[in-house]
Amino acid sequence: MRRDEVLNALGLTVWRLRGADNPPPLPSLSPCPSPAVSGRGEAFPSPLPQEEREASPDTRAQRIAQLSWDDFVADVAACTACDLCKTRTKPVPGVGDVRARWLFVGEGPGAEEDKKGEPFVGQAGLLLDQMLAALGMKRGDDVYIANVLKCRPPNNRAPTPQEADACRPYLERQIALIQPKIIVALGKSAAMLLLNTDASIASLRGRVHRYRETPLVVTYHPAYLLRSPADKAKSWEDLVFTKKTLAAENA
Ligand code: URA
Repeated sequence: MRRDEVLNALGLTVWRLRGADNPPPLPSLSPCPSPAVSGRGEAFPSPLPQEEREASPDTRAQRIAQLSWDDFVADVAACTACDLCKTRTKPVPGVGDVRARWLFVGEGPGAEEDKKGEPFVGQAGLLLDQMLAALGMKRGDDVYIANVLKCRPPNNRAPTPQEADACRPYLERQIALIQPKIIVALGKSAAMLLLNTDASIASLRGRVHRYRETPLVVTYHPAYLLRSPADKAKSWEDLVFTKKTLAAENA
């Protein structure tokens, strides 16, 4: 896809960064690579023993905090910490470069992701890919994509606080394993979980937050942008800001 086409898809045909660096040539949009965290591929093992399922949340969190990448995928697949495991088709642990500098965090799998076991593969994912392409990036290449929830909430509803809390150790472990240089919180659920705030996206945009030591930028969720295309330009501003923040933090 050409740069003009990508910007067009983002609704940014007339928007230009005056005097800003020219972004590198865009790569063509290729199909998503398979998850780099496979290890055990698509063959998910049987659930954990009863005693593990009944461990206290703290014991469970401590155990998850020690997982290797290989064990991580299997553990998510065997998780029964909330009821979403009963209605999911496939768990959606995350996808991408496990050494990525960029970590994008969404909310939770939708219908397409639930079928495929990979985050952001539906319409919102297409937009995310286009946004990455506009930055000269693509998933799997210096980019990791994860969600607050690893299992689909029925009818794509927002995570309940209990579900988000039950899944929190997995996202925390992913962050610890990847050690990203920048985190992009896509939408309210990610911002709430990572920053422990209930503030609006509008009020959180445009500044650098921290998740522990790691710089974190908040922007709109791609699914929101599909419903409110007028805000795509703001989201693009956020991504340009994120790129500059990453450069400044590592200068
Ligand atoms: N929305 C999300 O937040 N995550 C996905 O993986 C897909 C849609």
